This record gives sequence, C-alpha cells and structure tokens, in this order.
Amino acid sequence: MPRVSERYDGLGVGFAPYLQPPGNDVIRWTVGEPGFDTPNEVIDAAIQGLKDGKTKYTRGAGSLELCSEVSSYLNEKHGIKYSPEDIIITPGAKQGLLYSFLITTMPGDEVILLAPSWASYEPMLKIIEAVPVHVPVRKDNFHPDLSAIKNAITEKTKMILLNSPCNPTGAVFTPYEIQEIVNIAKENDLWIVSDEIYARLVWVDYPHVSPASLPGGMERTIVVNGWSKSWAMTGMRLGFLAGPPDAMKAAAKSQANSASHVPTFLMDAAKVALKCDKDVEKFNKEYLKRRKIMVEGLSQIPGLRITEPEGAFYVFVDVTGTGMSDIEFANGALEAGVQLIPASLITGGEGFVRISYASDEEIINEGLIRLKKWLIK
Ligand SMILES: Cc1ncc(COP(=O)(O)O)c(C=O)c1O
Repeated sequence: MPRVSERYDGLGVGFAPYLQPPGNDVIRWTVGEPGFDTPNEVIDAAIQGLKDGKTKYTRGAGSLELCSEVSSYLNEKHGIKYSPEDIIITPGAKQGLLYSFLITTMPGDEVILLAPSWASYEPMLKIIEAVPVHVPVRKDNFHPDLSAIKNAITEKTKMILLNSPCNPTGAVFTPYEIQEIVNIAKENDLWIVSDEIYARLVWVDYPHVSPASLPGGMERTIVVNGWSKSWAMTGMRLGFLAGPPDAMKAAAKSQANSASHVPTFLMDAAKVALKCDKDVEKFNKEYLKRRKIMVEGLSQIPGLRITEPEGAFYVFVDVTGTGMSDIEFANGALEAGVQLIPASLITGGEGFVRISYASDEEIINEGLIRLKKWLIK
C-alpha cells in the first residue's frame, strides 16, 4: 500500500470534531453560518445565468464585469483602491487564503498569527510548509499586543496575518492598531494578508479599517474577502483576492493551475449581491438583536466572563470561573443539549468556548434556557 504523504501527519482539522451535526434536539451554537436565506435577487441571477448558457469555461480571474464591480465596491465601502485587473474571484475566501499564503511564503518561512486565530489558518500554512508563529492577543479585549508582534519578528518572518473583525474572538482592531501593524510590516519589509470576510459586521463606533487603505499598506497587503457571511451565500463558494499587481499575477497563476475559475453562472449572482445593501443592513439589525440576547443571557450565568463582541457573530467566553476546562464545559453543554466549541482546539484558546449567535432568536433563547438549567443550581 502506498503511504499518504507525511504532509498530513498530525495535521489538525480545527473545530471539525465539534462541528458535526449533533443528535436530534441539540441546539447548535457552533456553525459560523448566517441564519438567513440568500437574497432572492442573487438566486434569480444564478438561475438566469444557467438559463443564459453560462456553463462554459471563462476568464480565470473572474468576469471583468464582476472584477470591476468588486474594485468599485472595495473603493466605496473600505477605501481600498485596487484596479479590476488586480482582483481575482476565488472559490470561497478559503481558497483565496491558500493562494495568498503560497504567494507570500516559501517552505520554512514564518507567518505571524494573532492567537487565538481562525482554526483553518494553521493547518493551511502547515500544508504548504510555512511556519505559523502564534503571538497572543491581549486577554482583556483580544486586541493585538503590538510589542509582542515586534518581538516575534525574525529573519524568517515573511507575513503578518490579520483577521478583523475576528473569528473567534469578535474583536475589531482600531484604526490606530491597524496603522501600527502596517508600520511594523513596512519597517521589516513584510507582507500583510488581511482576511476581511466579516468587514461589514462591525458593532462598535469606529469603522473596519483595511491595512490596504492606509499609508504604506497598499503595496504590501493582500485583501481576502467573500460573499459567504454578509450575503448569506456560504454554499455558493465565492470569494475574492485583491492586492498589488505582482501578487495578483501570482494569484492568477495559482488559480489557472488549480481551480481554473469559479462557476461561470455564479458570477452575475455575485455582482448582484454587491448591490444588495438593504439585505446586508437587514441582516445586521438582526445580528445586533441576537448579540444582545446572547450577551445578556450568558451574563446571567455564574462563572462565565463575557467580553462584548465588537464584530462578526461570535462571543468568546471565558469559562474558567466555572471550575471546568473548556473541553469539560463543551461536553457538559452537549449533554445539556447545546453544541458549542471548546477553544483549546486552537492555539491560545485554552479556557474559552466559542459561541455563534448567527442562528435565529428561538435557537439562542432555547440554548440559554438549557445552559441556565444546567449551570444555575
Ligand atoms: C475568518 C474566516 N475566514 C475565512 C472563512 C472562509 O470563508 P469562505 O466561506 O468564503 O471560504 C471563514 C469561514 O468561516 C472565516 O471565519
């Protein structure tokens, strides 16, 4: 029997064991998926694309119309000024992240991750033999520790990976922090990969700021974003990359030699989605309501320390006050009928659980009733 390559030995699968569909009557607070239907206009555009025969090979980076729309969208919403030629439409943000890691590192190069960070980054870096270096965020508010980042840089460091608003912590980094990280990257000639998939889900009174929009940031930042979260399009697998011309030429080569392009008939649907501001706002209003119910409900449970989430749709809860480890807490919660994620599955998450409030109010309320019944004696 031939042996599977050693690349996969010990490779993690992140939160996967706790993301499996649980038995009937278990409340799922695990999945990072919007609890809304995809906007009707988007569905109609996808069906129309099929009817119009858009089922053949096409431009690898994505249709020029869609790339132009993404370029204008980035400029209008986030002050990012990459031209349509410097946009690549990818099968989900995830595939875009993989390309961006391939573009910015060689085997053995170090990448700074702000821990705890999204579960897929580390395995993805390890697959391509880059070396993740976890720099802990501040424990009080999950914001970056700027001097710790500076101290972690070595001759092998090539890239800093940012994710703001952050999964799993819900932190939204301030404009000052982002500018400081750009300055650090500039001083050390590093790339920044900025995963901005939650850019429209911000609940604080300062905006999401992309490093690509700041002085010194544009020439060293690859922006990764996509349609999954704000437009409730997770299953359509649509994301995009934007960055400096040389990096995007390399991204185009990565895509040409792997995925080719995203499904042709979905490109018009993606274009339509970018105009669906009303839906995005409607979803955001609901998320704000759900966030309030979740935070207030959890705050009534003794032993839990809640940091109010600033963005995305996750609460990152310190459970050490219950006397349980996060794994014990998650297993106990499952027995009580609520599935959530113990964060020690990722580096820097020990003692915390990640709770998604993307699901509807009924699910949030029922989960809170179950947790209270279990934990309030
Ligand atoms: C931080 C982060 N980046 C990227 C992704 C992947 O998004 P996509 O569905 O576009 O691949 C997710 C999905 O959960 C995420 O949380």
